Amino acid sequence: MSRTIEKRKEGLKGSYSVPGDKSISHRAVMLGAIAEGTTHISGFLNGADCNSTIGCFRAMGVDIDYEGGTDVTVHGVGLHGLKAPASVLDCGNSGTTTRIMAGLLSGQPFASVLTGDPSIQKRPMKRIIEPLRLMGADIRSERDNGYAPLCISPEHLKGISYGSPVASAQVKSCLLMAAMYAEGATTVYEPVLSRNHTELMLQALGADIGYGRDKETGRSYASLTPGHVLHACDIKVPGDISSAAYLMGAALTVPGSDILIRNVGVNPTRDGIIKVFKQMGGRIELLDTRVEAGEAVADIHVSGSDLTGCRISGDIIPTLIDELPLIAVVASSASGTTVIKDAAELKVKESDRIALVTKDLKAMGADITATDDGFIINASGEPMPLHGAAIEDALDHRIAMSFAVAALTADGATEIAHPECVSVSYPGFFEDLIPDSDIS
Ligand code: S3P
Repeated sequence: MSRTIEKRKEGLKGSYSVPGDKSISHRAVMLGAIAEGTTHISGFLNGADCNSTIGCFRAMGVDIDYEGGTDVTVHGVGLHGLKAPASVLDCGNSGTTTRIMAGLLSGQPFASVLTGDPSIQKRPMKRIIEPLRLMGADIRSERDNGYAPLCISPEHLKGISYGSPVASAQVKSCLLMAAMYAEGATTVYEPVLSRNHTELMLQALGADIGYGRDKETGRSYASLTPGHVLHACDIKVPGDISSAAYLMGAALTVPGSDILIRNVGVNPTRDGIIKVFKQMGGRIELLDTRVEAGEAVADIHVSGSDLTGCRISGDIIPTLIDELPLIAVVASSASGTTVIKDAAELKVKESDRIALVTKDLKAMGADITATDDGFIINASGEPMPLHGAAIEDALDHRIAMSFAVAALTADGATEIAHPECVSVSYPGFFEDLIPDSDIS
């Protein structure tokens, strides 16, 4: 059932906590499953995507104590302890599960098939199929169209040196997973550094992994030499900056807001949203910045601000790729022009986010033009340019949440078509964003 959101009468106030980081939650289960010993995960994201990952590992015989809260205990089976699943592995809506698991499964002595919902069956998989085949993997797209279902059969893997054309943590992590089962070292280069949670966690578990920037070419790399057992350790998952972003966007744009978002992961490969909001004039402060289990964490103080447009392109893009729909929304109520470039990847996320954001923001009265690799938004700031509209979200959680934020400052009612899709990454989102009295 759709959800109607009215303009917010008062600013957001008080202290918030957001659910656990999606990327780290996935990796904690995946690496915990193939580690020796028991992994206790706290702060786990009890969202549909991470639950798909748990389902896949349970289907491969891993004993996981989890009843849907934020604490998970994974009883690791070691690198060679996974069992053949009895049926197709269902990754739901999760591209991260599909791609990273494909690397892991390529190194197993049993055959498997990976698939997911209709959206997953349209996400590009050639980006992992091609390099996995270079490693010797037997992986193919069942319908030979470059999409899931992916059929994987046992094969001997060898380490490779691979330059990925896209800056993608999913591609990098997929190859690092396969690398643990290969003969010889694997090095993955990427044009721009993508999120590095896999590297940090592998290092914490004792893998032989190196990463950094290649001095000659300037490209980022991660390199894994197999042969090391992973030793389980407890993992504390920080709040997801990609979820905190919606609260930040709401607090910046709804006048009179003043909030504190506690315990948010601010890993420098993910914190582009903070840099961009600050560049736009947003009043944002990081408090009590600390490092927990190798990941930077902080409390974030955000207040209502007068924002101006900005230009976003190049190396910062992978650090805020999931936040770009929200940035487009926030830019529509700033003053001046915002130009977003180098973000063609948006077309192959859970939906074509360039097309959908443009369509929905136009429906709300914004002046936005789609380009091949981003958007141009012209906004005047005053008076609030947006008005309510019926929002098409294509069941894409980030579109639904971004437009819920837009609705808070738009005149009239905004209708989000599939509010339930936010459960992929932020169950409880609407309760956090909208006070009880305003829910209709
Ligand atoms: C993710 C990586 C990103 C991001 C996705 C989660 C991950 O995708 O968009 O939501 O956990 O590795 P790409 O690495 O493909 O850009």
